[in-house]
Amino acid sequence: MRRLLTCLVGWACIQAAAAADLVEGKAFERFITIWLENQDYSKVAADSRIADLKRQGILLTRYYAHTHPSQPNYLAAVAGDYFGLNHDEWVRIPENVATVVDLLEAKDVTWAGYFEDMPSPGYMGNYSDGATGNGGWDYVRKHNPFVSYDSITSKGERLLNIDSFATFQRAFAAKKVPQFVFMSPNMMNDGHNSSLETATQWSHRFLEPLITDKAFDERTLIALTYDESETYGEPNHIVTLLLGNAIPPALKGTTDDTFYTHYSILSTLQANWGLHNLGRYDVGANVFQYVADIAGYDGNKEPPNAATVDNSVSYPGMLNNDTSKRLPIPVPNLHLTGAGRLPILPSIEAAWSGGPKWQTPYDGSGKIFDGDKNLPVYNALVIFSTCMLSLFNDVVVYMRNV
Ligand SMILES: *[C@@H]1O[C@H](CO)[C@@H](O)[C@H](O)[C@H]1NC(C)=O
Ligand SMILES: *[C@@H]1O[C@H](CO)[C@@H](O)[C@H](O)[C@H]1NC(C)=O
Ligand SMILES: *[C@@H]1O[C@H](CO)[C@@H](O)[C@H](O)[C@H]1NC(C)=O
Repeated sequence: MRRLLTCLVGWACIQAAAAADLVEGKAFERFITIWLENQDYSKVAADSRIADLKRQGILLTRYYAHTHPSQPNYLAAVAGDYFGLNHDEWVRIPENVATVVDLLEAKDVTWAGYFEDMPSPGYMGNYSDGATGNGGWDYVRKHNPFVSYDSITSKGERLLNIDSFATFQRAFAAKKVPQFVFMSPNMMNDGHNSSLETATQWSHRFLEPLITDKAFDERTLIALTYDESETYGEPNHIVTLLLGNAIPPALKGTTDDTFYTHYSILSTLQANWGLHNLGRYDVGANVFQYVADIAGYDGNKEPPNAATVDNSVSYPGMLNNDTSKRLPIPVPNLHLTGAGRLPILPSIEAAWSGGPKWQTPYDGSGKIFDGDKNLPVYNALVIFSTCMLSLFNDVVVYMRNV
């Protein structure tokens, strides 16, 4: 009632309502992840701009990308799997595959994707030319995970949340940046078509105004990361740096040696806002430790196979370009509890429970899979109860008939 009255007063109420509508998190009210391209941990950690930023944040020293090349890493970060993808070509993922967008919207957490030089909101083309003179390679679809998921592109209001850096800057100036933000700079600023130094210089310049105490009114956590390492022959070890006014002052300038992958973005969001899970590799992924500590999440552990993790080759799956390595999209595991202490999102369960009973590789163990030493193991245990039930029915029918 009080809010209604306030709202009658006029424009000011819109601002008040917007602030009130912000979903409070345990450790932050906003999470911004910014993706750079193709650098090894050792080189980035030694860079002077990164060293300078590190003084204001937490360096994650054991963060691994999932595979090569770029695109599967981006796709994995929003959906908890890359479905066997091993290339950067155009792909499209069917509508029954849910993403972080479904988890966030179910709890009214606002979100956006911002991609530098994207020519228009919801643009679904393969690439677009910006102002760098890079010959059509400024905005690229392969660095924008949202537009490859039909569950996002089939809804106009979701497409409208995918826009350019110019739109981000306007939202920042108006103090209206959504609560979850995924950003990819263009192919020059992210280092893809330039150099390590170009990308770190760009990052330093871009981040400075965002990491002051006053930049955001709400606690904002920024994760600057790389999609993958540069050297294919070595384990896919990358730098990720946590920054922003949500970092507790005592932790600024520290390191965190917990094992992470891009799936930790999903589990961290789940722990922070009490979100449901996707029933894929998001379940069991370690939560950024300081967030886990604040959220009271005690599920972080060393993956059982951490010593052999390589993450340089894609495992088989629907999107693999080698036809001998194609497998259907696995059924999510409908029986896991995620870092948000909740089961799978009810709409995902509804979409898959009556569907094809393909076996699932997702077990919530936090084990790491790749196409080399650690192939996913598909097991039927998850659908055991359903199978037993139908078997039981069959037996009853058979008994009745004899
Ligand atoms: C699959 O994609 C990779 C990476 O782009 C490429 O090197 C390879 O030739 C492709 N294989 C097929 C069978 O198209
Ligand atoms: C993007 O590339 C794919 C595959 O090469 C092609 O089928 C599609 O038409 C392209 N899209 C646009 C908008 O050019
Ligand atoms: C940028 O990268 C793309 C993809 O790897 C490549 O085809 C293109 O030639 C590069 N452009 C420049 C100017 O280096």
